[in-house]
Amino acid sequence: MPEHDNYLVGLDIGTTKICCVVAYMDDSMNIDIRGLGYAPATGMVNGRVINIDRTVQAIKTAVNEAESMSGAHIVSAYVGIAGDHIKSINSNGVVVTKGNIITQQDVDRAITTATSIYIPAECEILHTIAQEYRIDGQGGIQNPINLSGNRIEVDVHIVTAAATAVKDVVNCVLRAGVDVNNTILESVASAEAVLSPEEKEMGVLLMDIGGGTSDGAVFVRESIRHTFEIPIGGAALTHDLARSLNLNYDTAEALKVAHGCCLSDVLEEELRIEVPSVGGHGVQYVDNTIVCQLLEERCSELLSSAERILISSAYSEQIGNVVITGGTALLRGIIPLATQIFNRPVRIGTPDYHGGLANIVNNPKFATAIGLVLFGGKSELTGSQGGGNGGGGALGRFIKNLFKKKS
Ligand SMILES: Nc1ncnc2c1ncn2[C@@H]1O[C@H](COP(=O)(O)OP(=O)(O)OP(=O)(O)O)[C@@H](O)[C@H]1O
Ligand SMILES: [Mg+2]
Repeated sequence: MPEHDNYLVGLDIGTTKICCVVAYMDDSMNIDIRGLGYAPATGMVNGRVINIDRTVQAIKTAVNEAESMSGAHIVSAYVGIAGDHIKSINSNGVVVTKGNIITQQDVDRAITTATSIYIPAECEILHTIAQEYRIDGQGGIQNPINLSGNRIEVDVHIVTAAATAVKDVVNCVLRAGVDVNNTILESVASAEAVLSPEEKEMGVLLMDIGGGTSDGAVFVRESIRHTFEIPIGGAALTHDLARSLNLNYDTAEALKVAHGCCLSDVLEEELRIEVPSVGGHGVQYVDNTIVCQLLEERCSELLSSAERILISSAYSEQIGNVVITGGTALLRGIIPLATQIFNRPVRIGTPDYHGGLANIVNNPKFATAIGLVLFGGKSELTGSQGGGNGGGGALGRFIKNLFKKKS
C-alpha cells in the first residue's frame, strides 16, 4: 500500500448518508482527494445511532468504496459528530506569568484553567477552542507565545457532547474496522470547507442544514464564538410533504428534490405534478404551489429559530453574512427566503476544491466530509487535536490555500 502514512480520511456519519473521503497529503502539505465512498444511512436519527448493525454496514460500504477508488487501505479516520445532544459554552482562564516570556506551557495552563468548569457527568468535552488571548489586559491577541507579560488570559469556546452518543458512533466506526483519530463537531468541519478567512474575520453565521439536524456556528474576529443545533433538517420537510399530501416517504423526497421550492415569490409557473399514489395503485396530482407552501412554512420556522438563537447569542450585531451548506442548501428558494429572514446577505457554501473529483465533491452535502479531511490535515500539521482557533488563523489560511492550489 503506497504512501499510506500521508492519507487523511474524513468520515461523515450523517442522518441520511455516510460519506468517506480519502485525501493524499504530500510532503509540501498539498491535499489531493483520491477517493469518495457513499452509503445511505438508515441507522441514525438526529446524530444518534439507533441501529448499530445498519450503521456499521453502511460505514463499511462507504469505506470499501473509498478504498477501491483511491487504492488506499483505510486505517483511521476523522469522524464527524452532531445532534441535539451537543452543547456549547464560552469560558475563560487566567494564569500568572510574572513578566516572563510566555511559553506553550503557560498557554496550556490557561486553557486548562478555562476548562475547569462544571460539565455534567453525562457529557464529554469535544472541543476546547481558543478564541483570543489577553496579556496584562491587552486583548485581541491570537498567538501569545514569545510575548512577555505578568498575566495571560484566554477566552475559549467549549463544545460538549453526550458521552454515550459519541461512544456509540465511535464503536460503530471501530466495528467497521477503522480507528478514530478524533471526533469533530460537524459544523466545525463544514466551516473548514466552505468559509473564507475573510468571512470568519468579518463575522459569519454558518448553517449546515442536513437531513436530520441543522448545525449552526458563529464566527467573529477569526474565531468560533457560538455553536448550536436545531433538530430539524431536510427529512422534516419530506415528512411534511408525505403527511400532508398522503404520499410515501420516497415519493415525497423525489418530489421535493425535483420540484421543491421554499419561496412562492420565485415560483415561475403553476404546475400539476403527477406522482404515484400510496401503495403504488395509480397516480395522483399535486400542485407545486401547495408543495411550495408546505416547504416555505417549515423552512421559515427553521430559519427563524436560527435567527432567534443568533440574536440571543449576542453576536447578531457582529455578523456580516450567512452561509448555508448541507444537502438542504440545494433547495430552491432557500437563499432568498433566508435573506428575508436574516436581513443580511446569504450564500450557498460549497467546497471550493480544484483537484481530481472536484466535479463530485464540490457539493454542499459533502462540506462536512471535506472539512473533516482539512481539519485532519491541520491537526497533523500542528500536532493538536483540539480544534485550534477555529481555522481562521494563519495556519487555517495556509491549509485553505493549499487546498485551492491544486488546480
Ligand atoms: N436538490 C435538493 N433539493 C432539496 N433538498 C435536497 C436536495 N438534495 C439533497 N437534499 C436534501 O438534503 C438532505 C441531506 O443532506 P446532507 O447529506 O447534508 O444530510 P446528512 O449529512 O446525511 O444529515 P445530518 O447532517 O442532518 O446528519 C436530505 O434531506 C435531502 O432531501
Ligand atoms: Mg451532515
